[in-house]
Amino acid sequence: MQETVAVILAAGKGTRMKSALPKVLHAVGGQSMLRHVMTAAEQAGAKRTIVVVGFGGDQVQTEIGAAAEYVLQAEQLGTGHAMMQAQPALAGYTGTVLLLCGDTPLLTGNTLQQLVAAHQQSGAAATVLTATPADATGYGRILRDKSGQVLGIVEQKDATPEQKQIGEINTGIYCFEAAPLFAALAGLTCNNAQQEYYLTDVLAILAQAGQRVGAVEVADFQETLGINSRVQLAEAEKILRQRKLLELMDSGVTVMDPASTFVDASVSIGEDTVLYPFTWLEGETTIGRNCRIGPNSRIADSQLGDAVTLHFSYAHECKIADGVTVGPYVHLRPDSELATGVKVGNFVEVKNSRVGVGSKLPHLSYIGDADIGSGVNIGCGTITVNYDGKKKHRTVVGDTAFVGCNSNLVAPVSVGAGSYIAAGSTITKDVPDGALGVGRARQSNIAGWVEKKK
Ligand code: UD1
Ligand code: CA
Repeated sequence: MQETVAVILAAGKGTRMKSALPKVLHAVGGQSMLRHVMTAAEQAGAKRTIVVVGFGGDQVQTEIGAAAEYVLQAEQLGTGHAMMQAQPALAGYTGTVLLLCGDTPLLTGNTLQQLVAAHQQSGAAATVLTATPADATGYGRILRDKSGQVLGIVEQKDATPEQKQIGEINTGIYCFEAAPLFAALAGLTCNNAQQEYYLTDVLAILAQAGQRVGAVEVADFQETLGINSRVQLAEAEKILRQRKLLELMDSGVTVMDPASTFVDASVSIGEDTVLYPFTWLEGETTIGRNCRIGPNSRIADSQLGDAVTLHFSYAHECKIADGVTVGPYVHLRPDSELATGVKVGNFVEVKNSRVGVGSKLPHLSYIGDADIGSGVNIGCGTITVNYDGKKKHRTVVGDTAFVGCNSNLVAPVSVGAGSYIAAGSTITKDVPDGALGVGRARQSNIAGWVEKKK
């Protein structure tokens, strides 16, 4: 296979989005539209990606970073002009240029692979991806001769009434060989209805010079749809979500109610896991096999092992090992690690803490900045007092310790292995291994007090 470089046009403002954010950075399916297009290009074998930026170029560069190269189109003088801006970055390059737009998030790597393969096998100088939608209005139309050979593309605004009858349209996605592309671009003019340099004119220039120009029709027109408004963004969101859920179901995940389940493209889930309704799985999240997730749960950027149960809960930036039970009503905050078989339930918050194998935090606790051993029982209402108003301090609880209900562990403090903490204690001093820590006032009963009060 020949080398392929992707050039993605993303200089337009996207006026109809009515947004301070450049259009291509609007998120859909948990990722910016531009990221989706970049992923598809990568899957089609593109080794380099050059993004042509204009409006909000700095924002695009900050967001996407080193995953792409950037060239600036200071003034939007047309798609042909945008392509010309990439020429210096491609000096000396003789492979294939895959030309895409940054606002087509539904495009798949599979479609692009087919386009690139057809282009490279045919030896054409240019190959355009075409479609035949129900309504061709607004699109450039594909002009062919009687034998079906592509002659060029005419824009809607420049088309004759007869040309407007043509149903085959230009999706705006092409493969070019670099050398003939840049030679043809040098011959572009803007003598047209929009006074723009049309990239589409390159095809007629090449065809007239006797070069081979091909066309590949896309199987699913929907994939090539450009997003121009928030309404279209919401439609694309729905399609991407559905696509992800179908992929998950095909790979062995049960999705009880696809209409109320939201999974980002970046999430992976093992076989026989069940997603209950109203579940959000976001970012770099991985979930193992045989898990029960939801209902009403949100998991972001977290790694879950196998056989985890998590319901009515929110976890972000956490690691949860096999067989852990979480919920209901648990908040697992960043940098929390729960080892195998841990149980966290009923209104418990865990932050920046490690909890060892089989430990239980069943009710109404705040565990922050703590290292809890294995086999520990944290009684109902236990609080790690981790913040003195200036600094955070750690609490250490040794293996098999039993912390009685309603205890405050005032950090920095350590509770020894196998020790007991009496219920209602405020522990300010370290408790040695195997000791009983009692930190509460002794109870006294005043006999006959009620009778005397009368
Ligand atoms: C273009 C095609 C048309 C095709 C349609 C498919 C041309 C002349 N026409 O029309 O045949 O049917 O796409 O959607 O190419 N852009 C820049 N710089 C510019 C102009 C555009 O970066 O100076 C970018 C836009 O941000 C956008 C893309 O190029 O992502 C397409 O531009 P747009 O103005 O939407 O082209 P259309 O008129 O829709
Ligand atoms: Ca367009």
